[in-house]
Amino acid sequence: MSDKQVVVYGASGYTGRLVCEFLREYQVPFIAAGRNRQRIEEAIAKVPGIETADYEIVEVEHSVEALTKLLEGKSVICNTVGPFDYFGDAVVQAAANANCHYLDTTGEQAFMMEMRDKYSDSYRENGKILAPSTAYMYTPLDIAAHIVLEDGSIDSIDAGCLAAGVPTYGSTQTIFAMFQAEHLYLENNQLVPWQKGRGFEMVTPGKMMSQLAHPWGGGSLPLWFQHDHRVQNVRQLTAFNNRPMFEQIIELQQHYENNLKDLPQDEQEKALGDIAAGMQPGMPPRENKLVHRSTDFVHGIGTGTRRSCVIHTSAPYQLTGVVQAALAVYLLDAEPLKSGFVSSCQAAGHNYMLGAIQKFLPTQVDIY
Ligand SMILES: NC(=O)c1ccc[n+]([C@@H]2O[C@H](COP(=O)([O-])OP(=O)(O)OC[C@H]3O[C@@H](n4cnc5c(N)ncnc54)[C@H](OP(=O)(O)O)[C@@H]3O)[C@@H](O)[C@H]2O)c1
Repeated sequence: MSDKQVVVYGASGYTGRLVCEFLREYQVPFIAAGRNRQRIEEAIAKVPGIETADYEIVEVEHSVEALTKLLEGKSVICNTVGPFDYFGDAVVQAAANANCHYLDTTGEQAFMMEMRDKYSDSYRENGKILAPSTAYMYTPLDIAAHIVLEDGSIDSIDAGCLAAGVPTYGSTQTIFAMFQAEHLYLENNQLVPWQKGRGFEMVTPGKMMSQLAHPWGGGSLPLWFQHDHRVQNVRQLTAFNNRPMFEQIIELQQHYENNLKDLPQDEQEKALGDIAAGMQPGMPPRENKLVHRSTDFVHGIGTGTRRSCVIHTSAPYQLTGVVQAALAVYLLDAEPLKSGFVSSCQAAGHNYMLGAIQKFLPTQVDIY
């Protein structure tokens, strides 16, 4: 049995490869796992500096039994195999069976709620974490929300993410798969649905023009703060610099609502998969830090008070690799601050997660 404690599942993918890259930067040995050895070998060969990494490749069948066997005796799995709605349950179940911490890159609310309800207790009883959305779009907002909530008078959170980048094949598949679920926000401690097929104008701090934003599945912040007694309201929106692409996504969601949502489940999945493949059939190039800049902000609101935190950084997919690797590294040495269904900041503290991003990517944090 391998003595390496961290498993990256989906290592042949765009994001899995980036998790491997930053585990290598931390000099942490890892297993690069996935369903096809050759594709993993080809992907890993492109990781900068891979010749100095301590890793092994493991081909594993996508089943609870095979994944449980792989995870026995391991500390952490970083799961990047999405859409998680389709493929995630088996991995969460396997990590629970093997008593292993579980991190992933999902933004799919329905999947997160289902995993929380099915498995959170078993993770908590074993002192392990079930930490979905340890990724761009979610972790910087989680950090900003924790900073804003240092002011005890804040009870409501408006969170916005403005990314510059081209979604990968897996991300595009995931975006369209999310049309099948409700997208929820927290209002007066209740999860309520956003209107379907609608964009919202968003004003991002430091930008001249407004952006067209979308609930993008509703996000993970409403779930992470749902049972936090300090917080009653949480709304999360996402925008990309590429406005025409966003307009098209909103039109396609209207098309889903009008024409596809009453089809049988397998036909819906196929139709959505085909639309996604038409938009992003291949793997985009590596991000450029001077082009793919991002701004994540949280406005905290109280009675007669407000506090905002804005995080400017870059290369969102690389950031996902950073936060996955950083949380895995934390868990190798320390007990999580909280176990069960948690965010990365709830598990490791927001200062640790922010420090990890600052270590690898140019980052400015404005608090006002
Ligand atoms: N929140 C964020 O900002 C963020 C950032 C990055 C990624 N993500 C999410 O992470 C997921 C992966 O994204 P990506 O960009 O890495 O996609 P990708 O490049 O398409 O990679 C997908 C990975 O999943 C594997 N896979 C697909 N279907 C599988 C199956 N049936 N059984 C086993 N493995 C399977 C692929 O293996 P093969 O190579 O063998 O096909 C590949 O390793 C997506 O859901 C995406 O939305 C989110």
